[in-house]
Amino acid sequence: MTQESLDPDLVELLRLRQSPQPQGPQAGRARMIVPAPVGRIGTGILNCEVTLLGQLGPDTVFMMGDNPALPQMPARPTLLDFFKHRFEDIIVRHLLTSAKRALDAGLEEKIVMAMLLHDISNGCFVRCDHGYWGAQLIAPYVDEEVAWAVKYHQALRYLPDASVGYEYPESYRRFFGADYVPPEYLRRDMDHARNHRWYMSARLVTLYDTYLFDGWADVDPEQFTDIIARNFRQPAEGLGFDNSPVAHMWRTMIWPNNFL
Ligand SMILES: [Fe+2]
Ligand SMILES: [Fe+2]
Repeated sequence: MTQESLDPDLVELLRLRQSPQPQGPQAGRARMIVPAPVGRIGTGILNCEVTLLGQLGPDTVFMMGDNPALPQMPARPTLLDFFKHRFEDIIVRHLLTSAKRALDAGLEEKIVMAMLLHDISNGCFVRCDHGYWGAQLIAPYVDEEVAWAVKYHQALRYLPDASVGYEYPESYRRFFGADYVPPEYLRRDMDHARNHRWYMSARLVTLYDTYLFDGWADVDPEQFTDIIARNFRQPAEGLGFDNSPVAHMWRTMIWPNNFL
């Protein structure tokens, strides 16, 4: 892909001159952002890396650390801090609405917890294979069955089950086209999930997975505080800083614009 035709306004945007100047490392300098390839390649959005390399100088560096365009995260972030300060609004509403429906239906707490977490990967991380990424993000902190349900809800969304009244989602027909067929790995995982002893947990996630684009109720995340406390092992050091196998994934959400 060519670098030459990069929009000068975009270059200026990515230079991100801060006002007021931050304290600490990188203070007083423009801090440039290079968007991550996973959200850019294939879109036609040009790779600005070479252009921005040419802008480096005493007053211009690549961003490392807090981005003042994002809310400040606490030193020891909790799950709810990510809901409040990092996950995008559309996902927060989707997760809270889905969890509230499960709660109101009287489902057990582990399912409500799974509803609350099932799409967090879409919140500010990775969309592709979001169930698999989401399950990894939460695995050290939740019951194994909750992480399992989050992983397999992705495949089971494509699989109708008349015995529980689950139909292929109308929204998926609109999202992907009526002729879309899930790839082999998802069909394999559908088979695995439907024969598993935890099948109904992942199935319930798909049943209460609520896509409402109009008239979403505002659901206060704080009402899940007690359920989270009982079902999510919040690390004392904060998510991202507990040296767990997935801590780097939470740090990436804290500092999504770091150059490296
Ligand atoms: Fe999902
Ligand atoms: Fe969902």
